[in-house]
Amino acid sequence: MAMTGVLRPGHMQLRVLDLEEGINHYKNVLGLVETGRDAQGRVYFKAWDERDHNSLILRQADSAGMDFFAFKVADKATLEKLDADLKAYGVATERIPAGELLETGERVRFMIPSGHAIELYAEKTDVGNGMQYVNPDPWTPDAERGIAPVRLDHALLYGPDIEKVQKLFVDVLGFYLVERVLMEDGKTDLAIWLSCSHKAHDIALVRHPEPGKLHHVSFLLESWEKVLRAADIMSMNKVSIDIGPTRHGVTRGTTIYAFDPSGNRFETFCGGYQPYPDYAPITWTWEEVGTGVFYHDRKLNERFLTVVS
Ligand SMILES: [Fe+2]
Repeated sequence: MAMTGVLRPGHMQLRVLDLEEGINHYKNVLGLVETGRDAQGRVYFKAWDERDHNSLILRQADSAGMDFFAFKVADKATLEKLDADLKAYGVATERIPAGELLETGERVRFMIPSGHAIELYAEKTDVGNGMQYVNPDPWTPDAERGIAPVRLDHALLYGPDIEKVQKLFVDVLGFYLVERVLMEDGKTDLAIWLSCSHKAHDIALVRHPEPGKLHHVSFLLESWEKVLRAADIMSMNKVSIDIGPTRHGVTRGTTIYAFDPSGNRFETFCGGYQPYPDYAPITWTWEEVGTGVFYHDRKLNERFLTVVS
């Protein structure tokens, strides 16, 4: 197997101010599949084409934002190795027992310098995507509720010390830098896009004074036409759209940013090129940061830099 170590983003726990509003948004507008509820009142979802039991967990709270973002690793031996590697690197880790999240194995949780809780886990129950594993159909009519993304794709997090986050993700977790945006000094990174896979990014960070903030959680669509359709569905449901449909210069992805009813930004995203770990990182200069983020407008809007949850 060529792909080892950290495989992909696996789940995010998100805080919402009103659980019923949140459920309606993520189930009926975004079109995720509800897969369970637990004794704490948390509600579990997966995208229709994901096979594991859950990728988004909603928790009602007094403030919006992200509780934690998790990556699935190849197997239990990898989980043990990465836990030991993190400790050797000087990162304190915590074990969350199997079953604390429904249908999810033991998790290793740690804080990164930007103030976010990150988890690793090896096991989550395969509940399938509604198609057979022998002679499957290519899709299921049940998938076409709402925007219907195929998977949780990545997250963009805001916080301080992103160069330390980059070093940790690269040196310990095996990620590589795909793209970066420089600050006015021409040296310091304003933003970084990191991949553990063949995707343009699995996690991205923007330098920001306040730790632990969520800029957006992103869901993958399969075509530009589906991004346009997502905008139609958002408008039908009076979803607050931040920007789009448009294209990012960074990653080349096509995109819409919008807000859930609690003010958490989410993205419906398509495309992006497919890098390999040997690719030289792409750099965007301060003068072209607007083009890098919003390729058509060629300037940032104020919300992109300031509104986080
Ligand atoms: Fe994104």
